[in-house]
Amino acid sequence: MQKKQELYSGKAKSVFATDNEDYVVLSFRDDTSAFDGEKVEQLNRKGMVNNKFNAFIMQYLADKGIPTHFEALLNDTESLVKNMKMVPVECVVRNVASGSLVRRLGVEDGLELNPPVFEFFLKNDALHDPMINEYHIETFGWAKAEDISKMKELTFKVNEHLQKLFADAGMILVDYKLEFGLFKGEIYLGDEFSPDGCRLWDAETRKKLDKDRFRQGLGGVIEAYEEVAQRIGVKL
Ligand code: TYD
Repeated sequence: MQKKQELYSGKAKSVFATDNEDYVVLSFRDDTSAFDGEKVEQLNRKGMVNNKFNAFIMQYLADKGIPTHFEALLNDTESLVKNMKMVPVECVVRNVASGSLVRRLGVEDGLELNPPVFEFFLKNDALHDPMINEYHIETFGWAKAEDISKMKELTFKVNEHLQKLFADAGMILVDYKLEFGLFKGEIYLGDEFSPDGCRLWDAETRKKLDKDRFRQGLGGVIEAYEEVAQRIGVKL
């Protein structure tokens, strides 16, 4: 597989074409951003940690029957993935109240949510990723009704598997965001799963082990990501 020209560069990853139009190279950079790109820093080793973390999770989910875009780990910071048409919508599941839910509804941070809460957000930094629902997605043509149902179903399935994976390693999966895409007409999990797009707390101490350490300037960001990786058995 030969890596070709850069197709797209996002806030933390870049996408490169390959000599096969069905596949692209996902390149994880050290850039770390928050607040719709207002806070940006370079964090040493982050590209490597997230690339390997994501490869581990995607393979874990694929083993459980979740269709993912992941094909192969290429090197420390790059993976080969299916070339999908991304759905511009973020699927969020919350097992514990935190972040924007707390700000929006005034509920207590750390409140257990039973059943878990599901939310859709539009991927649009300029509009600050507004919350949307199924009607907006269908009416504005961001995805078809059957694909919306599929994304929701898969996002909840991922919750079952990952809640257990992290719980067995002494952590609480507080919330997370997934993105999906279409490849040859079918929905696949895309983007990445890493501590950049979820909240993970130590089950005993409730220490934050995710990007909230960066958002809140708590320090030890990559050290926390590495601790999570080590606890679930990711080889860095
Ligand atoms: P949320 O609490 O809505 O956002 P924030 O507190 O960052 O304003 O986010 C819920 C989870 O989904 C959290 O783990 C972060 C993740 N997420 C992203 O990674 N990117 C996003 O654009 C959104 C909306 C959420």
